[in-house]
Amino acid sequence: MGFYFDHNAATPVSAEALAAFTAAARDVFGNPSSIHSPGQAARQTVESARRDVAALLGATPKEIVFTSGGTEADNLALFGIDARHVIVSAVEHPAVLAAARELERRGVAVSIAPVTPEGLIDLDALRTLVTPETGLISVMHANNETGAIQPLAAIAEIARDAGALLHSDGVQAAGRMPVDVRALGVDLYTISGHKLGAPKGIGALYIRDGVKLRGQIFGGRHERERRAGTENVPGIAALAAAAR
Ligand SMILES: Cc1ncc(COP(=O)(O)O)c(C=O)c1O
Repeated sequence: MGFYFDHNAATPVSAEALAAFTAAARDVFGNPSSIHSPGQAARQTVESARRDVAALLGATPKEIVFTSGGTEADNLALFGIDARHVIVSAVEHPAVLAAARELERRGVAVSIAPVTPEGLIDLDALRTLVTPETGLISVMHANNETGAIQPLAAIAEIARDAGALLHSDGVQAAGRMPVDVRALGVDLYTISGHKLGAPKGIGALYIRDGVKLRGQIFGGRHERERRAGTENVPGIAALAAAAR
């Protein structure tokens, strides 16, 4: 095998994540919603994983919702928050930019915040874009192409002053640099398994306790009614192993 230099696209699956994935797929086959013991074993795997993922981000377990990856978590944040005006940065991943374009098509006002030549959000420009209608600002933590790390705490202050929520796509940050959602001041934070040593098809959204978010997938009452669908237990176990 040659050298692999594309971890921003996908990391190799770590030995620990692979072992957790395999063990869960083989041994923890119950449905976490079932009340019998195989179901409860799966429930325990999911809830223990939620604690590990919360610990990675400095969150509490009930603030973590498992998704099918970064794209779904970004979409859940953008569509799940009721906002008349949304601001996204110009350098967001398509998972945010295309979602913002769809919001616009549905009648939500959307502004694109410019960045400096260094790829950092222009804070003065951001301040001028904020209006009393602004309900959500979405600025990624670390950029997938340039590696630029955005000044989230300063952006959080602007959001707070405006009475808006702050979402950050942390897909390229979590697992690579310390992340503390409280210190950063974010209300919503996206992570993706395959950028930090877990397999593809698993991710999570941190939703600060108290934030009202409407689920976007309708079905069973999974994930505290914020994300319907039987949990991806092996993927969740692998994400937890990677987070640990
Ligand atoms: C910054 C960023 N956000 C979101 C995504 C999408 O994540 P996923 O592939 O898990 O849907 C990626 C993946 O390339 C990314 O780099």
